[in-house]
Amino acid sequence: MNDAAPDSLAVGFRDVDATAPDKIIRCLDCLQAMAVGRAYKARALDLLGLEPGASALDVACGLGDDVVRMKARGVRAVGVDRSRTLIAAAQSRHAGSGCEFVVADAADLPFADGSFDAVRIDRSLQHITDPGRIVREMARVAGRGSVVLCAEPDWGTFLLGGRHCAVSERIQHDWIRTFQNPWIGRELSGLLADAGVVDIRQDAVWLPTHGFAESDLLFEVDANARHLSAELPEALSWLEAYRRGEAYAGVLMLICWGRKH
Ligand SMILES: C[S@@+](CC[C@H](N)C(=O)[O-])C[C@H]1O[C@@H](n2cnc3c(N)ncnc32)[C@H](O)[C@@H]1O
Repeated sequence: MNDAAPDSLAVGFRDVDATAPDKIIRCLDCLQAMAVGRAYKARALDLLGLEPGASALDVACGLGDDVVRMKARGVRAVGVDRSRTLIAAAQSRHAGSGCEFVVADAADLPFADGSFDAVRIDRSLQHITDPGRIVREMARVAGRGSVVLCAEPDWGTFLLGGRHCAVSERIQHDWIRTFQNPWIGRELSGLLADAGVVDIRQDAVWLPTHGFAESDLLFEVDANARHLSAELPEALSWLEAYRRGEAYAGVLMLICWGRKH
């Protein structure tokens, strides 16, 4: 059962063009602005082993910042996303960067087999109906020996602070269940293996938020607590205390990568 507040971020990311994009864009920009967000992305970028002249694909690229980072390594850098709104924003924000942005569904990538030297996806398999199909499609467009990399949270590790643990636990529980694939982080190595990726390795980075604004932008704490207060009135006092200084939340990001056989 989905007990979370309606129009939650996790639902919006499944089909950005069917929702009001402002909240989605603020959430994406918030993570890019956080030092810990940039740190795990830098680690994931290094693992692609990009050499000048190579080609790299970012699947479900959102606003395209990771495509620009790949481009800065001297490669042909392509980003695809199913959202026309986000691809238009990426094209406008990164005009003149030399990056290519394409509207496409991750389940049906418009590229020939073996087109890229590196293929990545970041925080998107958590939202997509058949993640196994997406990872197989990523492996299909990767050349033999190319790196295929996935970076996803595992919402089973989500930690929401606050003094009244029963309320924190209930908000956590409801939030986790808004995701299509909440346990995707721990599933990545199996999905890569099923897609014919070998030499699979895994790393994890803790992604903490600090202060109410960050927590709320990434985890919608205010809306979730208010929604819960219809059933548990103490959720409102929990929210007040959380706002006043107990705001702490975090989730583990799993980075999993290997080479196309
Ligand atoms: C949380 S965002 C992550 C964006 C970007 N990778 C980042 O790290 O900032 C999830 C992205 O997945 C995209 N998405 C969801 N389903 C998709 C699909 N079937 N094919 C391609 N993109 C999809 C959304 O439009 C959104 O841009």
